[in-house]
Amino acid sequence: MSSLPPEALANKLMSGKDVSQALLDELKGELDAMKTSGAKLPKLVVILVGEDPASQVYTKRKAKVAQEIGMASELITLPKTTTEAELLTLIEQKNDDPSVHALLIQLPLPKHLNESRILNAVSPTKDVDGFHPVNLGRLLSGDTPPALPCTPAGIMKMLSFYKVPISGKHAVVIGRSTIVGKPMSLLLLSENATVTICHSRTKDLPQACAQADILVAAVGRPEMVTADYVKPGAVVIDVGINRVKNPETGKTKLVGDVDFASVSPKASLITPVPGGVGPMTIATLMANTLALYKAQ
Ligand code: GUN
Repeated sequence: MSSLPPEALANKLMSGKDVSQALLDELKGELDAMKTSGAKLPKLVVILVGEDPASQVYTKRKAKVAQEIGMASELITLPKTTTEAELLTLIEQKNDDPSVHALLIQLPLPKHLNESRILNAVSPTKDVDGFHPVNLGRLLSGDTPPALPCTPAGIMKMLSFYKVPISGKHAVVIGRSTIVGKPMSLLLLSENATVTICHSRTKDLPQACAQADILVAAVGRPEMVTADYVKPGAVVIDVGINRVKNPETGKTKLVGDVDFASVSPKASLITPVPGGVGPMTIATLMANTLALYKAQ
């Protein structure tokens, strides 16, 4: 347990739950107004292939939040035996359907499906994740597309909400995935941070991370980032969502990539798990859907 009293800890927490709720309320207001005016509603289609339990939870949550704010949405679940040709045909149908404004293919895909071929097939204008090469290229060149990858874009919104200074600061991102690490680094760079990307081959990872004013952990390893990785006063963003089993009780719980108990006393601000980055990702997905609708 953290040594801080509860009030002090509360002041350190970056509540993705609260910030995302504020964003969702705003979006709901806009959607309500559109409904009243008789305008066509933005529609998000989410495609899940297979039965990955975490992906099942995430996609249901996405559909539920869409429903709560009055956004049109469709969750399509396909068996894990779905062929690439079948999935490509479905994507083409959704690309051509004018009632669909945003299309998300939940990752990871089953091994037999070629991820780049599938992501390349999504129309760049409906690419709500910003994972199409055209949109990733636009992000790299500074020609910002309407929809940026949801997790990093959500983190940027949270940093802005909590008025975290970025310009001139040293940001260290642990993880180099296309979903989080790489776009996160580019977004921090675009706000004039000095950015270091660390990964599994980085030498002396704790020492590299301890240089960070802003530390983003996106590794997928439960509680890997301990106090020795953290400079006193750093802002710590935990992207991890790991389900771990307590060997004594047999019960499972969610933990991040950051060891909250040892890190929170050292950090100036920290995101909890759950209730940190996760809700921001979903709210950003909704904001992206509306942005694509407006851009089309
Ligand atoms: N799987 C985990 N995170 C994401 C995400 O942001 N988008 C998609 N499509 N799949 C994911």
